[in-house]
Amino acid sequence: MTSATRPASAELVCFNSACRARYGITEVLYNCPQCGALMEAGYSGFGNAAALRGLFRERRLSNAPLDQSGVWRYRELFPFLDDYSEVVTLREGNTPLLDAPEAARYGGLERLSFKHQGFNPTGSFKDNGMTCGVAQALRLGLKRVACVSTGNTSASMAAYAAAAGLEALIFLPHGNISFGKLAQALEYGAKTLQVEANFDQILALVRVLADRLGIYLLNSVNPFRIEGQKSIMFEMLDQRDWQVPDWVVLPGGNLGNVSAFGKSLREAKQAGLIDRLPRLAVIQAEGAAPFHDFIRAGACEFRPVPRPETLATAIRIGDPVSWPKALNEIRCSEGAVEKVSEQEIADAKAIIGRCGIGCEPASAATLAGIRKLTASGVIQPDADVVAVLTGNLLKDPDYIYKYHTGKLESPGGARLESTFGNAPIVVPNDADRITELLE
Ligand code: F0G
Repeated sequence: MTSATRPASAELVCFNSACRARYGITEVLYNCPQCGALMEAGYSGFGNAAALRGLFRERRLSNAPLDQSGVWRYRELFPFLDDYSEVVTLREGNTPLLDAPEAARYGGLERLSFKHQGFNPTGSFKDNGMTCGVAQALRLGLKRVACVSTGNTSASMAAYAAAAGLEALIFLPHGNISFGKLAQALEYGAKTLQVEANFDQILALVRVLADRLGIYLLNSVNPFRIEGQKSIMFEMLDQRDWQVPDWVVLPGGNLGNVSAFGKSLREAKQAGLIDRLPRLAVIQAEGAAPFHDFIRAGACEFRPVPRPETLATAIRIGDPVSWPKALNEIRCSEGAVEKVSEQEIADAKAIIGRCGIGCEPASAATLAGIRKLTASGVIQPDADVVAVLTGNLLKDPDYIYKYHTGKLESPGGARLESTFGNAPIVVPNDADRITELLE
């Protein structure tokens, strides 16, 4: 057994630096029993960096399911399992890093690449985390899993629970998720409850029900979801031969993903895989931007937004549970936060579409945010920037159709400009008339 493959010991550790209480890795804990802060996985070590790099590269040639997964390929960097025989993989991860010159120009940059998590099996980055959350549920022998979701977590959980033979219970804010995401949950056979409340209210409800009914919670308060989402950064770094970008830009909702990215990058540095940290930039929608407002006001008191509103429904969250972790990651990485309007998101999204790439609205907040951060001089034009597109274009076709046909309205009812609109043209069944039109 080489030093790269020797198993490390794992435990659950309280995230609060003043507490750091430690618990067994098989305890069902989301918050610290002593101080209430979120829990995280902690490890004794990760192995030798050169050996790990070689191992990860070698696995790309392997036909073993775990090696083919763009998550489990990096398993030495989240060694919470001691037995991999029960892991369910849908070959998640393996998402491309795409150059996008037109988006770079629009964002005020010389170059920009997108790490596109929409190429995942259920079309979002949630699959990276869900394979790990479900693996922990299986290891614990739990039969029922649940989540509240703005749509992507539920689609992902439904798929992985189905593949693993677990019962899936999904809670959704009624009327406020895209049809594509709701359809996924139904098709994968999850019991789906639409609650007359917003995401934040339903999360509080589900936490009560999870305790009462003994259901395993697979929201991003679950530390194993975070462990899986770390792989997005490992894979991105591996794709860049471990060359660190200057900035990693991502949208922020419940702030689980920025927590995962920050942890993964700090741990990659600790393991000697990289020698510095990229700066993290979190972009929120203006109507759901409590984290932005908190940081910009000096990070004294966190004030939730009671009625969050945005057409980017994936990030329509007013009381993000992971804000303390996110704050730590912004500080550790000397990061930045920005907020963007509905119009800015919609236009940036159309530009990403024009690159032949496309994404769902929440993901486009990244490019809109980059444009603002370069204009204000926070990001330099020659910076090496990776933006993470979190969800697939087809998640929300209704939004796209409305934008391109000039029918998209902000939550307040104001009509948005169809700046880069591309409406379909209705034509008669007449070759001459169509020729005339095309000439
Ligand atoms: N982008 C997309 C497409 C999302 O679905 C989400 C979150 C985010 C960004 C924000 O990530 O919460 O880690 O800051 N969606 C969750 C859900 C809340 O229920 O699917 P975050």
